[in-house]
Amino acid sequence: HVGDAYDENGEEVQQVECVMATNIPNEMDQVEDSHICVVMVGLPARGKSLIAQKIVRYLRWLSVNAKSFNVGSYRRADTPHPSAAFFDTSNPEGERLRRAAAEAAVTDMLRWFEHEGGHVGILDATNSTQYRRKWIKERCDAKGYDVLFVESKCDDEDLIMSNILEVKTTSPDYIGQDPEEAARDFRDRIRNYEKVYQTLTEPDLTYVKLINVGSQVVINQVSNYLQTRIIYFTMNLHITPRSIWLSRHGESEYNVLGMIGGDASISPRGLAYADALPGLVRDSIGDKDVTLWTSTMKRTIQTARHLPYRKKQWKALDELDAGVCDGLTYEEIEKKYPEDFRARDDDKYNYRYQGGESYRDVVIRLEPIIMEMERGENIMIVTHQAILRCIYAYFMNIPQDQSPWMEIPLHTVIKLTPRAYGTVEERFKANIPAVSTFRAKYTSANMGGEEGLEDMTDESNMMSPPPTGAEINGIVKPDDVESFVPQKHPDPMVPVLLLGGDTMLVD
Ligand code: ADP
Ligand code: F6P
Ligand code: PEP
Repeated sequence: HVGDAYDENGEEVQQVECVMATNIPNEMDQVEDSHICVVMVGLPARGKSLIAQKIVRYLRWLSVNAKSFNVGSYRRADTPHPSAAFFDTSNPEGERLRRAAAEAAVTDMLRWFEHEGGHVGILDATNSTQYRRKWIKERCDAKGYDVLFVESKCDDEDLIMSNILEVKTTSPDYIGQDPEEAARDFRDRIRNYEKVYQTLTEPDLTYVKLINVGSQVVINQVSNYLQTRIIYFTMNLHITPRSIWLSRHGESEYNVLGMIGGDASISPRGLAYADALPGLVRDSIGDKDVTLWTSTMKRTIQTARHLPYRKKQWKALDELDAGVCDGLTYEEIEKKYPEDFRARDDDKYNYRYQGGESYRDVVIRLEPIIMEMERGENIMIVTHQAILRCIYAYFMNIPQDQSPWMEIPLHTVIKLTPRAYGTVEERFKANIPAVSTFRAKYTSANMGGEEGLEDMTDESNMMSPPPTGAEINGIVKPDDVESFVPQKHPDPMVPVLLLGGDTMLVD
C-alpha cells in the first residue's frame, strides 16, 4: 500500500504497488531445476483433492509443469465400487489392492518427473500413516526429489458432512447408489481411516498442516523457494462462498481509433457504460460486501466511478505494456515492425514487445493479485483486455496458447463463482455499442467496426472458449474440461452460465 489517492468525485481510494516483497521473475527461473513431490495427507472429505487441483492450476498458470496423481483413480481400475469394509486395515485384500494403487501412482509420478519434464507432482491420497509417508519419502529420496507434505486437518463435523453430500455421494465410487446410503457408507469409510490416522508430527519432514481450513497453520522444515510459494498459496485458500465480477473499462478514445496502449479517457459510449455499470451488477451483487479494484489508468478509474464500493487502484492491473508499439494501431505495427508483428502471432503468450511486456511477464506481475483474490471474498475488477485474459485463464484453467486469443468484449460483466467442481461463469452484457478490439491471428486489423453492438451471432465474434459438455450442477468429466469448444452466447441481455476451472474431484 503506497498511499491514498482521490478519484474524480473526491473519494479516497487506496493505491497499491504490490502485495509482497517478492522477486518472482528471477526466482521462477530456478524452478527449472526443481522436482517437488507434494504429498497430500488427511482423512477423506478434507478437501485434499480440491487443494491438489488448485495447486496444479496455480502452478501451470505460472508455467510450472505440475500434475496430480490421484490414488483413488488407480484403485478404481481394480475396485470401482468399494464398500467401507474395503478400507478396513484388517481387510488383507483391501490392504493389498490399496498398496498396489499407491505403488502404481508413485511409479507413474516418478516416471513423469524423469521422462516428461515434470516439476511438481502431487500425490493425492490420504497418506494417513507414518509408515506410508516414510515409504513415499524413501522413493523420492532415492531419485533426489524434494518432498513437501500438505495436510488438511478438520474436525468440524458439519463441514465434513456437507463435503460428503457435496462431492462424495456423486463420486464414481457410488454411481447408481442412493445418496443417503452413499453418505452413510462414506462416513463408515472415514471411521476406518480414523483407526489408523496419524497427523503429521515427523520432525524431519517438510510439511504444512492446514487446520480447519487454514484457521491455524503449522509449517515445518521448509527449504526452497517453490515450496514456500506452494505453502503460501495453500494458506490463502478458503471455502467461503463468494463471486468475482470482471469488466473491461468502457470503450476508450484509443479503442475507437484502433490504437493500443496509452492512457486515454473513455469515449462517450464508454461514459454511457460507466453510467450503466451500477445497474448492470446491482441484482447479482445485491447487498454483498464488495471491494472494487481498478488499474491506475484513467479509463478504468472513469469506468468505475459510479460504483458504490470500497476502491483500490493496483499498478499490477495496468494494461500489458506494448513498449515501442504503444500508441500505434495494429496496421501501423505490421508496417513498422513486420517481423515483430509476425513473431507475436506465432507465439503470442511469450512474445515480448520491444521495451515492453509479454503475456508471460503480465502473469508474473499478476501473481500477487491472484493470491489476494484467493485470500479475499467478493471482488469486482475493472481492468484491461490482456489483464482480464490472464485472470480469466487462471480461474477457468485456459491453456497459455489459447488465453491471449480469447475474446473478452467491451461493455460486458463476467461473473465467476468458484465451486468445488469448477468455476461457474455468468455474463451480463450492457446494451451499449462498442468497437471490437479483438484481432484474429495472422490478420492485420482488429475487428473494429464503427458503430453497433458487437454481433453476437457472428462466428468470428465468439466469446472466450468455455469447456463444453459440462453441467452446471452436476459432475464435470475430466475429458470435458480438457476440450474447449467455443460456444455462442445467444441473447446478449440474458446472463449465460458456463462452467470451467478445476477438473472433477474423484477420490
Ligand atoms: P478429499 O480429497 O480430502 O477426500 P475433496 O477435495 O474431494 O476431499 O473434498 C472437497 C470438499 O471439501 C469441497 O466441498 C470443499 O468445499 C471442501 N474443502 C475444501 N478445502 C477444505 C479444507 N481445507 N478443509 C475441509 N474441507 C475443505
Ligand atoms: O486494444 C486494447 C488493448 O487493451 C491494448 O491497449 C492492448 O495492447 C491490447 O488490447 C492487448 O490485446 P492484444 O494482446 O490482443 O494485442
Ligand atoms: C482410495 O482408494 O480412494 C484412496 C484415496 O486411497 P488411499 O487410502 O491410499 O488414500
